[in-house]
Amino acid sequence: MTIPAAVQTLHPTSETVVEVRGICKKYSEVEALRLIDLDFPRGKLTTLLGPSGCGKTTLLKIIAGLIQATSGEVRVNGRTVTGPGPERAFVFQDFALMPWATVMRNVAFGLELQGMAKAERQSIARNYIAEVGLTGFEDKYPHELSGGMRQRVGLARAFAVNAEVLLLDEPFSAVDEQNRRKFQEDLLRLVDKERKTFIFVTHSIEEAVYVSDRIVLLSRRPGRVSQIIEPKIDRTASPDAIRRDQGYLDTVEEIWQGLKHYVD
Ligand SMILES: Nc1ncnc2c1ncn2[C@@H]1O[C@H](COP(=O)(O)OP(=O)(O)OP(=O)(O)O)[C@@H](O)[C@H]1O
Ligand SMILES: [Mg+2]
Repeated sequence: MTIPAAVQTLHPTSETVVEVRGICKKYSEVEALRLIDLDFPRGKLTTLLGPSGCGKTTLLKIIAGLIQATSGEVRVNGRTVTGPGPERAFVFQDFALMPWATVMRNVAFGLELQGMAKAERQSIARNYIAEVGLTGFEDKYPHELSGGMRQRVGLARAFAVNAEVLLLDEPFSAVDEQNRRKFQEDLLRLVDKERKTFIFVTHSIEEAVYVSDRIVLLSRRPGRVSQIIEPKIDRTASPDAIRRDQGYLDTVEEIWQGLKHYVD
C-alpha cells in the first residue's frame, strides 16, 4: 500500500526525538559513561545492551532528567533536558510502585499529577491494566502481587501517561520465561500501535534481538558505544518462526561475539 504524501509528512518514519550528545558521567571516583552520542527516533525501539555496571541505568536516568550528566547534553524534540518532564516516562528496574496505593491508583498516578478527572484517568488506566493482563487486580496493593505482576503495573503506568518517550529499565527481569515471551509480544504490539520512542534495557541478548529495531552495545565501564546493530528480521512472521529465523540467529551470534570479551 502506498501512503499518501500528506500522511507521510505527518508520520515520518525516522524522526529523531531524543538526541544524546557527548554525555559523560562521573560519580565521584567512578567514571560511569564516557562520551555517549546517540539518536533515538520515534516509533522505534532501541535497546541498550552491555555488561553490568556499564552505565545503562545511568544513561536512562540522565535522559529522564533524574540525574545530571557531568558534561554533554540531552535534547528531546530539540529542547535541552534540565529535569524530568511529562513527555518522558520511566519504568524502573526495581518497580518503584507506591506501596500504599492500589494497582489502579499506581497506574493512574501520572494522570492524577496532570490534574485529570478521576473517571477519565481510571478509564485510561483500566485500558492499560487490561493491556498488560491485570484485569481483576485493580484493587490489589503491590505487596499482594508477584514480582512479574508488579513490573506489569510499572509498564501500565508508563503507558497510561501517554509519554512520547518510554525509558524501560529491564522491565521484564522479574518475570518467568513464559510470561516474558508474552510480554515481548505485548511490547512489540505497543511499539507498533503507539508510535512512541522506546529506549529499552535488558541483559538478554535473545530478548534484545527479538524486540529491537536497533541494539546499542556498550563497553565495560566507563560505558562507551562500541557497536550499533540492526537485527534483520521479518516481523510479519510468527513468534516461533522469528526465533528460528536465520537473521535472528545470526544477530544473536553477532552480539555474543561483540560482548563475550567483556565476560570474565
Ligand atoms: N549513585 C551512585 N553513586 C556512585 N556510583 C554509582 C551510583 N549509581 C551508579 N553508580 C556506579 O556507576 C556505574 C554504572 O551504574 P549503572 O547502574 O548505571 O549500571 P548498569 O549498566 O545499569 O548496571 P546493571 O546492568 O547492573 O543494572 C556502576 O559502577 C555503579 O556502581
Ligand atoms: Mg541498571
